[in-house]
Amino acid sequence: MADTQGPRTATLTIDGESYELPLLTPTAGPDVIDIRKLYGQAGVFTYDPGFTSTAACDSTITFIDGGQGELLHRGYPIDQLAEKSHFLEVCYILLYGELPSAAELEDFEHRVTMHTMIHEQMNNLFRGFRRDAHPMAVMVGVVGAMSAFYHDSTDINDPWQREVASIRLIAKMPTIAAWAYKYTIGQPFVYPRNDLDYASNFLHMCFSVPAEEYQVNPILARAMDRIFTLHADHEQNASTSTVRLASSSGANPFACIAAGIACLWGPAHGGANQACLEMLREIGTPNRIPEYIERAKDRDDPFRLMGFGHRVYKNFDPRAKVMKQSADEVLELLGIEHNPTLQVAKQLEAAALADPYFAEKKLFPNVDFYSGIILEAMGFPTSMFTPIFALSRTVGWVSQWKEQLADPQLKIGRPRQLYLGEVMRDYVDIEDR
Ligand code: CMC
Repeated sequence: MADTQGPRTATLTIDGESYELPLLTPTAGPDVIDIRKLYGQAGVFTYDPGFTSTAACDSTITFIDGGQGELLHRGYPIDQLAEKSHFLEVCYILLYGELPSAAELEDFEHRVTMHTMIHEQMNNLFRGFRRDAHPMAVMVGVVGAMSAFYHDSTDINDPWQREVASIRLIAKMPTIAAWAYKYTIGQPFVYPRNDLDYASNFLHMCFSVPAEEYQVNPILARAMDRIFTLHADHEQNASTSTVRLASSSGANPFACIAAGIACLWGPAHGGANQACLEMLREIGTPNRIPEYIERAKDRDDPFRLMGFGHRVYKNFDPRAKVMKQSADEVLELLGIEHNPTLQVAKQLEAAALADPYFAEKKLFPNVDFYSGIILEAMGFPTSMFTPIFALSRTVGWVSQWKEQLADPQLKIGRPRQLYLGEVMRDYVDIEDR
């Protein structure tokens, strides 16, 4: 890479011909080679399936240093936010870039709280699903259908409508997730209560029934809020990139977020928390751990240690550290510190970390390794784990969506390909084949 007096460039040589490519310097992280004009100049594409070396956008929202195991939202480290802040303040930071004053925070919380109810006719949508539908299936459908109910916030060219759509999505997602749950267990939908904070209200909508008084346990509300905070954003992951790609065509916000929810569902992404707890239960007792470690290492076995490994973190996932501590605290406070799943998880983590396979590949526990244990202790079934991730990540998706739309250079996302199929050939009539 040439580092001359002028702007920095990288030189690419193809068949003896050299091309100077601008080298962009981020505020943190590795330099980025700007290849936007490469095809026009050299007539070649770059090849990077899985985007392992490709920055698809610029962003000022979240930064991950995978080597150091650091996660910053607008510069603020996640461990500080998890300890000192709370979810709605983190939402404000992600959306608007700065810490709010007390008045700004109060105003923001008020705006979110005033949008917690969903259109009454949306009830009918829930009732159209089978009772045994996965709550993620319901969420994909219902969030996508919001575009049929909130016409006054679908014009992406109107900043006010974009703002209203953002607030609506953050405010209504707990109601939608809770109702998806209530529907699958055959209980009546519980309406939001605006005198409760965001996390307490979600617990209320999930666990209260009309027949009796429900008191939200403040320990659980704090743990719930922390889970929301730890999942709030994670820069250009698969679901966020899906939201950005969907939005690049000018699609409305509800459709874009529904696309993000669909992507999050997969077991390599947000679905890992459900898959991880199911794996821990399947292992069942510590004496079976070696068998599963061997399976995870076996190239011929598709089994992977769920809740382990990450595309970006090649060190401890900082969210996993907080989550592990939270799991200990919550289970102790609930008097279930001898939870067998937690014991299996701790011993599995220790066994994997001591194993050269995981050390060499830099595989560490990720956010999903301990979150399921906390959620289960709170009373959630595994099928609700990924909906809770979706609810928490909504603010990240929305912040990234807003950032993208504010970019005057926005272009529709349209990747190229390395074509390896047949070249042109003549159609053969069926009787001649
Ligand atoms: N167990 C066993 N081996 C693993 C694991 C694992 N969990 N994760 C990666 N490896 C191996 C993999 O087989 C590969 O080995 P080799 O180089 O010999 O082919 C090597 O490590 C690199 O893995 P990769 O699949 O090329 O890495 P990736 O960056 O494409 O995948 C990942 C990242 C998160 C999809 C993967 O680590 C994984 O499948 N983990 C389990 C699922 C999981 O916990 N996902 C949650 C991620 S964090 C929350 C979120 O993003 O939603």
